Amino acid sequence: MAADIPQFTLNTGAKMPSVGMGCWQGEAGSDGLNHELIDALLLAFKTGYRHLDTATMYRNEVEVGEAVRRSGLPRSEFFVTTKMPPPAAHDPVAAFEKSLKDLNIEYIDLWLMHWPHGLNKDGEPYGYEEEKHLGPTFNERWAQMEDIFLNTHKGKVKAIGISNFSPKTLPILLKTAKVVPAVNQIEAHPYLPDLKLLDLCKEKGIHVTAYSPLGQRNTSILSDEDLIDIAAKYKVTVGQVALSWAVQRGTSVAPKSTNEGRMKQNITLIKLSDDDMKRITDIHKDAARSTRLCLDALQKGNPRIMGWTLEQLGWDVGFNVGDFKILPKSQQ
Ligand code: A2P
Repeated sequence: MAADIPQFTLNTGAKMPSVGMGCWQGEAGSDGLNHELIDALLLAFKTGYRHLDTATMYRNEVEVGEAVRRSGLPRSEFFVTTKMPPPAAHDPVAAFEKSLKDLNIEYIDLWLMHWPHGLNKDGEPYGYEEEKHLGPTFNERWAQMEDIFLNTHKGKVKAIGISNFSPKTLPILLKTAKVVPAVNQIEAHPYLPDLKLLDLCKEKGIHVTAYSPLGQRNTSILSDEDLIDIAAKYKVTVGQVALSWAVQRGTSVAPKSTNEGRMKQNITLIKLSDDDMKRITDIHKDAARSTRLCLDALQKGNPRIMGWTLEQLGWDVGFNVGDFKILPKSQQ
C-alpha cells in the first residue's frame, strides 16, 4: 500500500507524492549491480514509498529501474525522477536516451537539469552567455529539453524541470522558456529555508523539492536543540519534525534511508502548529545556523561547486559547517 501522505500537483497536472526516497545509497557488488540499493528500494516500497529520486550522476538508474520492475507493482504507481548530469550538458538528447535505456521503465516522470552549468571534458564549467564558447547556455539546454518533452520523445517524459537554480539563474532561464519548469529541486532544510527562492518559484507555478532535507551526512539538524525540543513535544523524532515542516510549507522531500525504522518515520508526517512552523522557519536567523550542508558537490581545495562560485550560482547562503567555510560576502 502506498503511504497515506499528501501529494503535490505539478503544473503539468501530475501528482507527486510529498515524500520520495533519495537514491544515493549503496555500492556496486562484484556483478556490477548495487544490490544494497535494490533491496533498500524493495523495502521502501513495502513501507509505502512510490516516489524515487535518482540522477545519472548517482550511477544507479539501472538498479532503480530494476527495483521498480521487481516490485510487481504497476508502473503507474511510481513517480520516478532523474537528472541530466553536467558532463552530458552539451548533448541533452544522448543524456535523455541513456537515462531512459538504463531505467528501462517505459517513461520518466520528471527529468531535471541537475545543475544550471555543464562541464566540458576538461572540467571547465559553462552555462551563461559569456561562457558560450565552452558549451551551450542553460537557456539553450532548456530549449532542447523542451523539444524532447514536447516533440522528439513525447510521452517518454511526463514533466521537465531544473535543479539548483537560484533567484539569479531562474529569471534568466524564464526569459526564454516556453515550458515553465515543473520543479526546481534545491537543497533546503531548517538551516536553509531559502524563502526568497520559494516565493519566486511559487509565483511562477514551479514546485520545489528539497534535497538533503535532513542535512545529508552532517548531523547538525538531527542534533539541533530547537528541533529536539519540538520533537519531544509531539513525541516524534527530529527527522519527522524536519520533514513535516518541509511538507507543511509546500515542498516535497527526498530523504535517503536504508534503515526500515527510519524509512517508516520519514513517511509518517505530523501536523505542526503555526507557532512551531514559525519557530523552525526562524532558526536560520541565528547566523551560526544559516548554512548549506550538502557537501557532495564541493571542490574543497578550490572553493567552487562543480566548477562555479557561489556568486555564479546566485547562492546567497554558503557553507558554514564546523571549520569548513565558503561564504558569500553577506555572510563573511
Ligand atoms: P540511514 O540510511 O542510515 O537512515 P539526506 O538529508 O541527504 O536525505 O540524508 C539523510 C541521512 O540521514 C542519511 O545518512 C540517513 O542514513 C540518515 N537518516 C535518514 N532518515 C533519518 C531519520 N529519520 N533520523 C535520523 N537519521 C536519518
